[in-house]
Amino acid sequence: FRMGGSRGMKQRLLVVANRLPVSAVRRGEDSWSLEISAGGLVSALLGVKDVDAKWIGWAGVNVPDEVGQRALTRALAEKRCIPVFLDEEIVHQYYNGYCNNILWPLFHYLGLPQEDRLATTRSFQSQFDAYKRANQMFADVVSQHYQEGDVVWCHDYHLMFLPKCLKEYNSKMKVGWFLHTPFPSSEIHRTLPSRSELLRSVLAADLVGFHTYDYARHFVSACTRILGLEGTPEGVEDQGKLTRVAAFPIGIDSERFKRALDHPTVKERIKELKQRFEGRKVMLGVDRLDMIKGIPQKILAFEKFLEENPLWRDKVVLLQIAVPTRTDVPEYQKLTSQVHEIVGRINGRFGTLTAVPIHHLDRSLDFYGLCALYAVTDVALVTSLRDGMNLVSYEFVACQGEKKGVLILSEFAGAAQSLGAGALLVNPWNITEVAASICYALEMSSDEREKRHRHNYAHVTTHTAQDWAETFVSELNDTVVEAQLRTRQ
Ligand code: G6P
Repeated sequence: FRMGGSRGMKQRLLVVANRLPVSAVRRGEDSWSLEISAGGLVSALLGVKDVDAKWIGWAGVNVPDEVGQRALTRALAEKRCIPVFLDEEIVHQYYNGYCNNILWPLFHYLGLPQEDRLATTRSFQSQFDAYKRANQMFADVVSQHYQEGDVVWCHDYHLMFLPKCLKEYNSKMKVGWFLHTPFPSSEIHRTLPSRSELLRSVLAADLVGFHTYDYARHFVSACTRILGLEGTPEGVEDQGKLTRVAAFPIGIDSERFKRALDHPTVKERIKELKQRFEGRKVMLGVDRLDMIKGIPQKILAFEKFLEENPLWRDKVVLLQIAVPTRTDVPEYQKLTSQVHEIVGRINGRFGTLTAVPIHHLDRSLDFYGLCALYAVTDVALVTSLRDGMNLVSYEFVACQGEKKGVLILSEFAGAAQSLGAGALLVNPWNITEVAASICYALEMSSDEREKRHRHNYAHVTTHTAQDWAETFVSELNDTVVEAQLRTRQ
């Protein structure tokens, strides 16, 4: 791993993402309690050697008063985090509106919003304006903290306008941008009214990264077809300036999961779960309650499986953890009631006085609880309609020591590219196929399970989140060096 900073000094990295990896709760006028959420990105960056990383992002709370803002800034500084304060109106237009109602569904092939189609032109424009304003606010905070030699790594679809704002502030800044969602076919991207402006802003970055080669290819095609630029094997070229475009598949901190399995709390919970579901095979789904996750389709496939396989009815249980998310967006509210309705119907239909086939939870689990659940699972169902990568599939594999459970995985999740040989790949829209795969998975021979698991486990434990972050940062440093060399020649 090459360092970009001066000799002996750690490379300073500013990580900019919409959301900081903390949950902040206000305890008083000037006091906050913070909890760091140890997600993939956090452990990835903690694991990168010789890098001194700071986070810049929104703390997820509205803090209208200066006293509160100052106190939160102080508390966050201890966690190496720097807040961007967004007021309610901008959160509504930028986060709920442009990010989650327009870009998110579009990038997952669900199209632009269908309702009030005629009215959208106006609201679309105001949401896009808010998006740009919000991105500028992130850029302002970055520029206040930027020091020469820093590398700035922008994350995700919330911040596609940021590379341009940063380069306008300082053209020498090393800027990388990574997309955590799919980048769709250029035919989908071209339906977006602000398609060109967004592409151009992203191209201001020195390095642009995606989870898979396909997403990178779609992005390059969008630049060639929509902007008329030249795509090269290295990336996209515009008037002699090359923006490197490449695939950097993310992973997990697999050691953290392995360590958790040895923890007494996890062992205790595993014992409890085994007792609770004795005599039944455990199937598991863990998803944010999002339309891209295909939860209704998954549950309908499970219903079809129960319908067609009466002998399995009292021998299997589906545990579906559906973590509430973006609850202010109407589409997500509708999805919650839809899922509840289907689960209720199936439990009414196949339940008995002592057992129900589906346990559906509208909440998240703590880390140890989740590890224990992964460990006792016989079949995991990851059936997203589209998904950038999907790390639940990786986490499940990491927690399956001796058990060698089966992973049923959507071919539309980025993870299908890496775990495809070990998992049972399915088209989540094809409920008959998913139902048949459930049956196949439950009845799979232990030899086949072992072979498949070995493949997945080797991948998950050797392609970690730390490797991902190191490769991206190292490549970002190189890109800038190359660019400087070119100008010197
Ligand atoms: C996806 C996005 C992330 C986002 C996460 C949770 O994984 O790629 O950028 O943080 O969903 O969504 P939320 O809207 O709650 O931040």
